[in-house]
Amino acid sequence: MKYGPLLFLGIFFTLASSWCGLVLMPQLQFGGLEPVKLEATGQFYPLPRSGLALEGLQVYRANGCIYCHSQQVRPADFGSDIKRGWGKRRSVSRDYIYDKPVMLGTMRTGPDLTNIGERQTSLDWQYQHLYNPQITSKGSIMPPFPFLFEQRRIGHHPSPDALKLVGEFAPPPGYEIVPTRDAKALVAYLLSLKSDVPLPEAPIPGAAPGSGTNAPAAGTNQAAATTASAPAK
Ligand code: HEC
Repeated sequence: MKYGPLLFLGIFFTLASSWCGLVLMPQLQFGGLEPVKLEATGQFYPLPRSGLALEGLQVYRANGCIYCHSQQVRPADFGSDIKRGWGKRRSVSRDYIYDKPVMLGTMRTGPDLTNIGERQTSLDWQYQHLYNPQITSKGSIMPPFPFLFEQRRIGHHPSPDALKLVGEFAPPPGYEIVPTRDAKALVAYLLSLKSDVPLPEAPIPGAAPGSGTNAPAAGTNQAAATTASAPAK
């Protein structure tokens, strides 16, 4: 083994340089990212998700939504994501600092969901679409998720969060369809997905600096939801 030490050094430096590139550099670049204080509103962004929305992230993960939906908006000159309304600005690493794991996704069989909490704010719509996408989006190829709902016999009064279903999708008379905790958590998560806040490293193209609401996600309390459904798409 005349070249033993040389071989060892060669292997060592190859592995060490890939460790530096793949582990050390990203850690130095992004590891210390913190929320920023927005000058206009004095609020911080991003804010941690509410407990229910955090639970919803795990439901999103468990049900494979990531196989068809991405959560990353490309810059304006790098595709048509912003023109399609998938986000007001490009996504940056700061957007994801509270997500574990980050649900970036690579497939776009369905639309990008970075901004779905702003694009589709209606709870009714979100529940009906999850229960069966054909109700709100006829011809959709998204699979239905009826197991996130429970069909049960109506008691003395119909449940306030029962889905308002008509026609072929309506349950048998005397029964109602109500969202389970998983469905409520998932919808809380979907409504918490917003990219309406301009950041120093990613301003909203054409918007005044510092605008945006950074508002927390709407609750899953059906009574608080507006009765008028937002336009389907
Ligand atoms: C097989 C692929 C597929 C899977 C899996 C899937 N979706 Fe979809 N999704 C679609 C397609 C296609 C559309 C567009 C048509 C429609 O609105 O139904 C869509 C639309 C949506 C929309 C509306 C987006 C908009 O811009 O209007 C939401 C919200 C959504 N999906 C959430 C989910 C969630 C949550 C899951 C997991 C529980 C999921 N999807 C799983 C394919 C999928």
